[in-house]
Amino acid sequence: MTDAKRTATLNIEGKELELPIYSPSAGPDVLDITKLYAQGKVFTYDPGFTSTASCDSTITFIDGGEGKLQYRGYSIEDLAEKSHYLEVCYLLLYGDLPSKEQQTEFEDRITGHTLLHDQMQHLFRGFRRDAHPMSIMCGVVGALSAFYHDSTDITDINQRELASIRMIAKIPTIAAHAYKYSIGQPFVCPRNDLDYASNFLRMCFAVPTEKYEVNPVLAKAMDRIFTLHADHEQNASTSTVRLAGSSGANPFACIAAGIACLWGPAHGGANEAALQMLHEIGTVDRIPEFVARAKDKNDPFRLMGFGHRVYKNFDPRAKVMKESADEVLELLGIEDNETLKVAKELERIALEDEYFIEKKLYPNVDFYSGIILSAMGFPTSMFTPVFALSRTVGWISQWKEMITDPKLKIGRPRQLYTGAVDRVYTDVENRLPTEKYLKFNGGS
Ligand code: ACO
Repeated sequence: MTDAKRTATLNIEGKELELPIYSPSAGPDVLDITKLYAQGKVFTYDPGFTSTASCDSTITFIDGGEGKLQYRGYSIEDLAEKSHYLEVCYLLLYGDLPSKEQQTEFEDRITGHTLLHDQMQHLFRGFRRDAHPMSIMCGVVGALSAFYHDSTDITDINQRELASIRMIAKIPTIAAHAYKYSIGQPFVCPRNDLDYASNFLRMCFAVPTEKYEVNPVLAKAMDRIFTLHADHEQNASTSTVRLAGSSGANPFACIAAGIACLWGPAHGGANEAALQMLHEIGTVDRIPEFVARAKDKNDPFRLMGFGHRVYKNFDPRAKVMKESADEVLELLGIEDNETLKVAKELERIALEDEYFIEKKLYPNVDFYSGIILSAMGFPTSMFTPVFALSRTVGWISQWKEMITDPKLKIGRPRQLYTGAVDRVYTDVENRLPTEKYLKFNGGS
């Protein structure tokens, strides 16, 4: 972090405090309030962290106004076009693009860890067949810490490294097994002669009775989906991983926490919700009804796949994803699909609508990723697991960065307490039924 060359003065009821201002290598200046409580006896209040930087980081930069996303300084557009996912993993983990030898060595290390401990099969089989693959992933990833004891000591650099490699290597196998289990097909083992994306497609779609050839266009599109989702600075799930890690929890437990957070429809679950919404709309003539609902303040409905906390002009990932969607749909000959027609028309109408323009609501990456994944043959329940798989490298890179930060402290936000204080305890015989409990249970 750069030293503060400037300060801001805060006046709290006549008492002046000097707050250091840091200038990042890119992005808005940051006001250091770490001494605010000690010196000014006040907290800051920022629900949803809309104005709060929780850490300093050198991994990913986003300029929401400009629609810019960079991993370690490289634009997402360049990486999506010229690089591939495992190279991006290396870049995120170690900070620079690898040389040819380093790339080969890294890829060999990853492929050397793709298998799961055989006993983990019992874990999968313990779930109900109709379990959502995300619930299986939360459970199985958390359970890795029970299988790989030699990579849970976070104070040992070699163990941290091994845990990182294991996570990236095993997460496609876990996601694919979760899918296979949910459809009652036998697990397909990883094949290390295939690239990362092709291997994942094969583990999801091959069956032992037939030869399976990976389509290179689909493998490229899959790889691109992985790359576009690989990291996104301090989003909800990444912040969850960091918060869990700040207590010293092992990396597998931290990634399981990240997966749980990603699952929500306001975050990674939006790709599943977006396609479900397109299906619910069904036909182009019903779009105005849904757009009207999205604009109605009294209706909780939102257009899923639209809007973003940070991007306020466009989501650069959505642009690349849209190109990929066109390629995949053309290859598979499903350009005339009704869902696709609804998606394209919805996008057109929303982009011209005053409400969406004024609130700066644009299609985000999840709007298009579901369309591609669906065309590839994934059911909607697998969309968020694919996102979790892709984001694992981001989570693990951010976790590694945090663990080695000398300023590491357990994450512990403060609060603005608005509840009761100093109530007098009464014995149960003297209490009336509480209104809140009655309401919760449907009483008056
Ligand atoms: N449809 C309709 N209205 C919306 C939408 C939407 N998709 N998104 C935001 N708005 C409206 C809100 O109602 C609010 O209106 P108001 O100012 O009149 O109250 C205003 O726009 C701002 O919305 P917030 O929820 O305050 O914005 P925030 O930055 O907190 O939320 C979020 C961002 C969660 C992504 C939101 O836009 C949303 O819920 N989108 C749909 C879900 C989605 O696609 N999530 C994926 C995000 S990308 C990712 O995780 C990879």
